[in-house]
Amino acid sequence: MLVLGVETSCDDTAAAVLQDGRTILANVVSSQDQVHGPYGGVVPELASRQHIRNVLPIVDSALQKAGVRLRDLDGIAVTYGPGLVGSLLVGLSLVKGMSFRSGIPYVGVNHLEAHLLAIHLEHDVPFPYIALLASGGHTLLYCVKGVGHYVHLGGTRDDAAGEAFDKVAKMMALGYPGGRIIDNLAKAGDPKAIRFPRARLKKSAYEFSFSGIKTAVWHYLKAQGAEEGKTSQADIAASFQEAVVDMLVNPTIKAAVASDVKRIVLSGGVAANSRLRASMTERADDEGVQVFSPAPKFCTDNGAMIALTGYHWLKRGRRDDYRLNADADLTL
Ligand code: KG4
Ligand code: ZN
Repeated sequence: MLVLGVETSCDDTAAAVLQDGRTILANVVSSQDQVHGPYGGVVPELASRQHIRNVLPIVDSALQKAGVRLRDLDGIAVTYGPGLVGSLLVGLSLVKGMSFRSGIPYVGVNHLEAHLLAIHLEHDVPFPYIALLASGGHTLLYCVKGVGHYVHLGGTRDDAAGEAFDKVAKMMALGYPGGRIIDNLAKAGDPKAIRFPRARLKKSAYEFSFSGIKTAVWHYLKAQGAEEGKTSQADIAASFQEAVVDMLVNPTIKAAVASDVKRIVLSGGVAANSRLRASMTERADDEGVQVFSPAPKFCTDNGAMIALTGYHWLKRGRRDDYRLNADADLTL
């Protein structure tokens, strides 16, 4: 079964061709980092305009790389939410048009579900597993019991983890998107240089909060500015990253231990973070829990995870009609 996956929910235009839910024949991503970089964050209107420019060449390039023609496809999968509504509409409208013109069935894919299943692009991880989904827009903890069977355990009360990385990078004038830049810079720094506070929420063991750390870094930078650069940028980056990583690792390990699920899966852009991957694995080892992390290119937004999720639903007979609308606030 050949499935084309199209993703335009935020600031990456992506398309992939997947065979039988396993073999990636093509996976093409066009990043808009250059467009949004000067603003230190995604500008929605610019994102949708850029998707309009990119989406056809990206889909064409994926088909060409895969060596397949449109009529060879058995189905098309496209993200219909959550995300920026203008961006979502670009991919969804294109795929509706392609499906209408060719008669090839299409399904709308939930972007969050796609992140949770992305691990299966590379690893045969048995269900159930505890999944930490940490991206620019979401920080969520699920017990994934099977395709379509997701038990919500917790989430962030305020900012997403990726948002904290991006905002701190902006405060430190490091560039956009901040996650990868801080990850690289932190390698040269001491994670114990500054002890930033870790938010611990009393009511639920599985809730996260990242607004406090953001404010703490802001106050630190302000105070340090007056003192004339005592700590290096690398030390600040490493100490901030260590605090975020601790706040992500603790509830995830707790969830795995409490539910006696021996597998943890990392997903979403922040799962590309080298320190998060290492720390989660270290802590999980002590508890006899295995950690699976997708390759960084499958942590950040990509068409392959959309094609994979679409494949599962197409296989189960789901077909969407042309009334399906983009849903910016779609939940799982
Ligand atoms: O999943 P994703 O590509 O898009 C959303 O669905 O939001 O995640 C993007 C987020 C951004 O906030 C980015 O800074 C963060 O993932 N990110 C990272 C790393 N690579 C990307 N955060 C920490 N370390 C990284 N290496
Ligand atoms: Zn995403």
